[in-house]
Amino acid sequence: MNRTSETDVWGALSVNQARLAKSNITIADLLALNPSRCDQMSLACAGILADFSKHLVDDTCLELLHKLAHEKALPTAIRDLFDGQCINNTENRPAMHMALRGHKPANMPDVTQTVSDTLNKIEHFVARIHSGAWTGYSGRPIRTLVNIGIGGSDLGPAMACEALGAFHNSALRCVFVSNVDPAHMRRTLAGLDTESTLFIVASKTFTTLETLCNASLAREWYLSEGGSAKDIHRHFVAVSSNISAASNFGIHPDNIFPMWDWVGGRYSLWSAIGLSIALATSMQTFRDLLAGAAEMDSHFLNSPVEQNMPVRMALLGVWYRNFWRCGSHVVLPYAQDLHLLPSFLQQLEMESLGKSVAKDGSAVLTDSGPVIWGSAGTNGQHSFHQLLHQGTSVIPADFIAVARSSWPQDAEQHQHLLANCLAQSRALMRGKSYQEALAENLKKGMTAEQAAALAPHRQVAGNRPCTTLILETLDARNLGALIALYEHKVFVQSVIWGINAFDQWGVEIGKELSGPMFKALGGDELAIDALDASSRWLTRHIGKLSKTPDHT
Ligand code: F6P
Repeated sequence: MNRTSETDVWGALSVNQARLAKSNITIADLLALNPSRCDQMSLACAGILADFSKHLVDDTCLELLHKLAHEKALPTAIRDLFDGQCINNTENRPAMHMALRGHKPANMPDVTQTVSDTLNKIEHFVARIHSGAWTGYSGRPIRTLVNIGIGGSDLGPAMACEALGAFHNSALRCVFVSNVDPAHMRRTLAGLDTESTLFIVASKTFTTLETLCNASLAREWYLSEGGSAKDIHRHFVAVSSNISAASNFGIHPDNIFPMWDWVGGRYSLWSAIGLSIALATSMQTFRDLLAGAAEMDSHFLNSPVEQNMPVRMALLGVWYRNFWRCGSHVVLPYAQDLHLLPSFLQQLEMESLGKSVAKDGSAVLTDSGPVIWGSAGTNGQHSFHQLLHQGTSVIPADFIAVARSSWPQDAEQHQHLLANCLAQSRALMRGKSYQEALAENLKKGMTAEQAAALAPHRQVAGNRPCTTLILETLDARNLGALIALYEHKVFVQSVIWGINAFDQWGVEIGKELSGPMFKALGGDELAIDALDASSRWLTRHIGKLSKTPDHT
């Protein structure tokens, strides 16, 4: 098998990066030279227009990137993914989240019935909660849902619930608790009453420390604040693939919504982990979310590499990561309702691609996944955009804009939002030359000396690349397609880098060490002695501080 950095195409891409860098050709030049560039570089699918015209890539580079995809047998890898081949080789399982959106993998036992049974179970439950037929122990309907989960059992549903704010059921409030810091659960519980609160314990494995601690805290609160033990089943339901552990915790078996091994944690919002999404909005909204993702699945599976939106996004990511050595990538949704998208994508991308071992156990020879970060625009403009424009590193950006606002009465204010989004991508591309800065300074009435002194500070390099994704509206279908777009992008990059995108062994080391550390903090001398000097010193220091102060 060709190691990525040893291939001819890889070499040709390096040569072409050097050619572009040396030629001083800019993104603005590329746009000016080819009047059809926007048409040629943009792709549309499932309610999303992806504009790739503001990238530092010419026809030759794009052709080479497509060649790289073919050299890495990407079309076969995509087919294997959709066929349900055992592509998660270290955990010996397929990655079949697409089956939750209606795809039938050829290589797996048919899961259509199980998936549809679970959707029906969710639908039935949602209908009972929404109609008030499901009540708490005092006969009052449920008014607050608390989703207890972490990682994929929190970030996906929390992000989707926020994003679909325009579709919320106004009679229900949905909150998410993830952190093992008791402050998170205690502060959430502070405003709640036991009679009308429902807890969803969401954990694929039902072994996750944070979730089990928080679920126990919630149960203790429920019982101590008047909730009756015999009615606990009206207030606690679970989503898990570990049915026995959920029942042992005390969840009634009828109230456990199943999920399966072949759904990865960070790909699980499409499964019953999405229960909170359906409850916070409606079952139809949840089904629309699945349908939007299915549309992107079909585009990804059936479009040629050259016209494939997730593939193009992924290849451009590889271009910047490996050939321009960009260490991070920023995601900038210009939509407040998408403010949790960067956090969701951090797990999706960094847990999937943050690896230095290839699928065959050998070392990855190139850089792999970049740092993913970002926040909603326009807020970021008043904090970190300074670094995007004038910092020493080039950071490729994804701008995400919604053409039609959920608030038609505020169309003009929405226009400010869109204007800022487009202005930022334009500013990143064109920058401001020294001459322009100088002329502006003189026009403001500065002396020649003052103008020249300030000009270098006001100069902006520009030529910083970005993708702009435009959603027609922020509805469930478009959101589903957007999430699936990123999922597939990550898969393509994993194929190029030879990585298994579906395991997360690095997460385990922290879990393994936290048990002994817990004992050490509890004063267990043997556990303290087993620590390294620094951790021992910190443990003893915390031990001293955590003793209740003596005020006598
Ligand atoms: O943080 C590691 C991880 O395994 C994630 O991949 C997963 O989404 C999260 O923990 C939560 O796991 P679970 O749903 O099993 O509680």
